[in-house]
Parts: sequence; C-alpha cells; structure tokens
Amino acid sequence: MNKAKAKQRIEKLKQLINDYRYHYHVLNQSIMSEEAADSLKHELTLLEEKYPDLITPDSPTQRVVSAISSGFQQVRHSSRMLSLNDVFNEQEIRAWQDRIGKLLPQTNISQYFIDIKMDGLACALIYQDGHLEQAITRGDGFVGEDVTNNIRTIESIPLRLRQTKDAKLFSIGRSEIRGEIVMYKQDFIKLNEERAKANLPLFANPRNTAAGTIRQLDPKLVASRPLHFRAYDLLRDNSGEVPTNDYAYRVLHDLGFLVNYMAKEVSNLKDILEFIDLWQDNRHELPFNTDGLVIKLNNREQFNQLGVVGKAPRGAIAYKYAAEQATTKLQDIFISIGRTGAATPVAILEPVIIAGSRVQMATLHNQNEIEKKDIRIGDTVIVHKAGDIIPEIVEPLISLRDGSEKKFKMYSLCPVCHSKLVKKDSDEVVWRCPNKNCPSRTWKAIEHFASKQALDIEGLGEKNVIALIEAKLINDPADLFNIKQADLLKLDRFATVSAKKLITNIKAKKTPQLSRFIYGLGIRHIGAQTADDLARRFGSLSKLEQVTFEQLNQVEGIGNIVAESIIEWFANQDNLKLLDKFNNFGVKPIQSQSPKKTLLNLSFVITGSLTTMTREAVADKIRSLGGIFQSSVSKDTDYLVVGNNVGHNKLEKAKQLGVKQISEQELFNLLNTEG
Ligand code: IVH
Repeated sequence: MNKAKAKQRIEKLKQLINDYRYHYHVLNQSIMSEEAADSLKHELTLLEEKYPDLITPDSPTQRVVSAISSGFQQVRHSSRMLSLNDVFNEQEIRAWQDRIGKLLPQTNISQYFIDIKMDGLACALIYQDGHLEQAITRGDGFVGEDVTNNIRTIESIPLRLRQTKDAKLFSIGRSEIRGEIVMYKQDFIKLNEERAKANLPLFANPRNTAAGTIRQLDPKLVASRPLHFRAYDLLRDNSGEVPTNDYAYRVLHDLGFLVNYMAKEVSNLKDILEFIDLWQDNRHELPFNTDGLVIKLNNREQFNQLGVVGKAPRGAIAYKYAAEQATTKLQDIFISIGRTGAATPVAILEPVIIAGSRVQMATLHNQNEIEKKDIRIGDTVIVHKAGDIIPEIVEPLISLRDGSEKKFKMYSLCPVCHSKLVKKDSDEVVWRCPNKNCPSRTWKAIEHFASKQALDIEGLGEKNVIALIEAKLINDPADLFNIKQADLLKLDRFATVSAKKLITNIKAKKTPQLSRFIYGLGIRHIGAQTADDLARRFGSLSKLEQVTFEQLNQVEGIGNIVAESIIEWFANQDNLKLLDKFNNFGVKPIQSQSPKKTLLNLSFVITGSLTTMTREAVADKIRSLGGIFQSSVSKDTDYLVVGNNVGHNKLEKAKQLGVKQISEQELFNLLNTEG
C-alpha cells in the first residue's frame, strides 16, 4: 500500500475505531465485538508503524480513556479494584510463574487458584454486621458509583448474610464481597426477542446490557431484567481472616453467594493447563459469556506481598482463550457444490489467524445471506471461528468501503459439471446441482466419508481424493476398499512408502464403528450425534435398513424430517447397491461400546436449575457418554441431580423409589472422569 492509500485507510480506521470506542465506553453500546475492534486496532498500529509521521494525537492508538459517568453518587473504594494482565499461552504462564518465584525466593509457591473469568461488570458489596449496606461499581478502580438500590433487586444477592456455623465471623463488622454481575446468554436472547416484538432497538451483548441496566435510574426497570451476581473475592479489615482463595470461595458459598463451583485449587502448571483444556470448548456451554480464566496465587498473604504494578496485581493473571473473531479482506466468492448438491457460496479471504489457526475461507451459507448482510467482494469483513465450526462472515464493515467493492452474482450453472442449478421450490434459499453424478458431489461425499468424525482415514484429504477420482480409481466411498498399491504407484502423487501407508490406513478401517459409518454415509440431516443415537438404538445396518418411520420417530431427538430422510435414503436402490459393495469389499461396521462410555445405560433426571451448564448441554454430554437423560423420575432412574430451587415432587418421588441423589458438582465429576 502506498502512502496516499495508507493515509486514507488510516483515516477510515480511526473513525470507525473511535466510533466503536464512543459507543462502548460512553453509551454502553457495542457496534461490533471487542475482538473485531482489536483486529482493526492492530491493522491501524501496523500502518502507523510503517508511516510514523501519519500518527496524530487523536489516534485511538495514542490514548487510554477512563471516564466515570454521573447520575449516581461517587464512592471511593476501600481498596483499589484491580485489573489483570493477560496471558495467551503456556509460555506466558510459565514466565509469570518464574517472575513471582524470583520475587518470593524464600517461599515455595505450590498452590494456585483458578476460576472462569466472567464477562460482566465488577461490583463491590459492603456488608456491615451481616447487612447489605452499599453496592459500588468498579468505576476507575479507585472511585465507583453507588448503585445499592439497583443491586438490591438482584435475587442472587443476599440482603443479609447467611449465618452458618463456619462463617459466623463474617457477619461481625465489615465484610466486602466482590464479584461479577452477569446476564445469562439465554436471558439476553429472550430479552432481545421481546424487544424485537415491541419494535425497540436491540441490545448488543449480555455484558453491555447488564452494565446499562445497573446504571438505570429506575430500580423497577432493573428488577424486570434478569441479572445474576457471582462472587469471587472476600475482603476483611483483618486480611488474616481469609488466608486462601480456596477458603474465601467456601465462605462465600456459606454466606449465601453464588460462586463458580468449577473454580479450584491446583498445584502445578500441568493442572493449570488441564483446566484450560477442559474449559476450552465447555465454556461455550456456560450460561454466561467468558473469554478466559483467572489464575491467582491461592495464598493471599503471598499475593499481597507481591504487590501491584500499574493497574494489575503481580500475583494473578488472566488467561485469554484465542480470539474467535478477526477482520480481514474478502478477496473473492466462489460456489462450492456439496455432497448433497447444495451450491454454497464460499468466501476467499486474505489469510488471518483466528483461534490459533490460519483461516482463508469462510462459508457464506447461501445467496440470501449475502444479500441480507450486503457482503461484497473487496469488503473488509468480520470473521468468526469457534472450536471446530466452519468459519463464518459476521458482517462487512461498510464504512471502510472505497467504492471498488463488487456485488456477487449467483451462478446459474454448476461450476463443475455445468448442469443448470435448481431450487426445490421458489421459497427455498438453497440452489442445488441436480446431477447425481456431478464429480464435485462424488468428491465431497468421499471426503466426508474419510473425515475425522466419520471413518477418520488418514491421508485422504481433498487433493488425494480428487487425484483418485480423476484417475478413475474411485467413484464412491466403497471403492476406497478396492484400491491396490500398484494402482496408486501409477499416479504422480504416490511413491512406494506413501502408497503403502494409504492402503494400510484404509484397511485399518474395515471394521469401523457403526455410528461413524452411518455418519460417513452422508445421509441428509444425520449429524454425528444422530448417527450415534441410531447406531445405539438399532445396532446394525441391516436393522436400520428395515426400520419403519414410526420406529424412527420414537427415537429421542429424531423428528419427522430426519426420519423421512433416513427412509428415503434406504429406499434408494443406488444406496443399497453401495452398501452391498461395502459388504463385498469386506467392510463390516460394528456396534461396540467405545471405552469412553462411562455412563453406559445409567439414567439421569435433573431437578431445579443448574448453575454452570444448560440442561441441553448436560443432556448431550450424558448421552455422549452412553447415559440416558430422562424428564421424570421413575424406578429406572439411577441418579437425580439436585440443582437450585428444586421442585418438591421429583425429590419426594426419588426418595420413595430410593433413587440416588447427587449434587451438580458430583454430576460434573461424573461427566469429566475418563473411562
Ligand atoms: S478475581 C485482582 N475472578 O476480571 C482482581 N475476577 O481483569 C482479581 N472477573 O475486575 C479478580 N471473573 O471483574 C476474578 N472469577 C473471577 C472473575 C474476575 C471476572 C473480572 C473482575 C476483575 C477483572 C480483572
């Protein structure tokens, strides 16, 4: 980019970032995610580094804002509310450990306390002799706002501390409880749905909604919005009364606060990394948003000894999971034909690292989506990628356009076999290639069959599959099992070793797990979980072939559309021939219990609300471990999981039937023990 172009781009970036900052910091609204804004800031920093004379004092890279808004009385915190420095990987955690180890040479640091970092707003609650006296927002860390009347409406905050035997001391004198006010993801969605119905502007995200709510002047309005408080700190005038964080959490629980029960004491880096791993994907199932973890010294005297640098204590860090959003340029759009013939627009992106991997393509779903979001070739776009999901375009940044962007025109012909693309009916959004023998469909079907969640055949990536099809060695997934080493050696891509390897890898999958095989067939609407349900319910392919619509409909999680799709697949002669072919080549799927089915045939009922996972997530997890999730207690129930605010009926019934009762914590332990 030459200097004149850079100057234009810098101006546009500054404007957009400033716009974001104003909405975020002053109006408590968000026009894009923090991660997307960070990505833009990064681009701006790089440009300014290249052309330092273009840096102006008003650039967002040149200032740090912190402003307290008026409307509530300002109150000084008894001790500063600190921030945390971020770390992003194992190395940086190690470096932190080394640093603090050197600062406390006489001490053997062997205990850390680790918790989920909640994405809400920090608040300090002051209790005098057990009574809630004042609630203060974080503000700038030194001075916050008195929001006591609003906080009182939050049901998870006790107006009076509970007086249990062990926690009595804390109802004497002054106790300050710090924690995070959060709005749950589900409540946020519901709230926005209601607002949409009432034609009100939508909220940007749960955190801003919670923050905006707490700063409303009318407590009635606050009471109407579901907010939760989760405690993470307990301060006393005599700090010796709370020796460890582990102890603080136990006391907080006893005093009547919600604390994250997954928080725990760990003793070394290995345990810290394990915790990080465990919550990498599971965190998406939590009721609230989080982007990382808090790791602190468990011993609070050591923590205090280490002191503070800038705004952050030395004795704690925030571990941040890799950002799942970034901005980049959309270079082009092409149409990809999937294994069911669906024509999906795919975005080609200027490569960008998201959540630790290089992303250069993203799905655009269908033409309607492109039009609805007004995505154009040449746009700077926000890209989202989480876990194993296919990267998606969130939105284009329209204000960064320079006029060179082009609208995408949907193809009328299949780019591979040139058949005319069709729609099933006029209001369908997906165009399809109607040609059953389209090479692209064959290729995608075989690639799917060999993919990780299906047969997981190593060495059968896109390029090899295409080469094998082009050489006419394969035309369907069954053909894979008939390839000879000599055939492979005729192709440029293979030498003796690589050919041998591929043949061995394929042979090793001759007795695949039934569920993986069913999934690998690529039947429409059959995802990995449904395939697993089908395998467990029917046990063999021949049974599945005979199954009726009614029998399918009785399987939990299988509705009309899925049942129809299965019946249709097995009614198709070509598909039956394919299954015969597999059989002839010696492929015999087996229904074995994988060793990880630690909850095999154990049935669970949940009563009351859970604090860390949604019911659906728990149900999924139980099923994935071979267990059964029931909605009511019967004599077949093995465990009743007792959450908060439990109903009387299920408990009574469980008692009568002698069903074992377990806590959410115990369930959590069961779900996470490896078999
Ligand atoms: S402990 C010295 N635990 O993160 C501060 N903080 O960046 C230690 N936060 O202002 C705080 N979840 O509002 C702690 N489980 C958790 C947290 C948590 C969210 C927030 C808190 C704090 C900020 C620090």
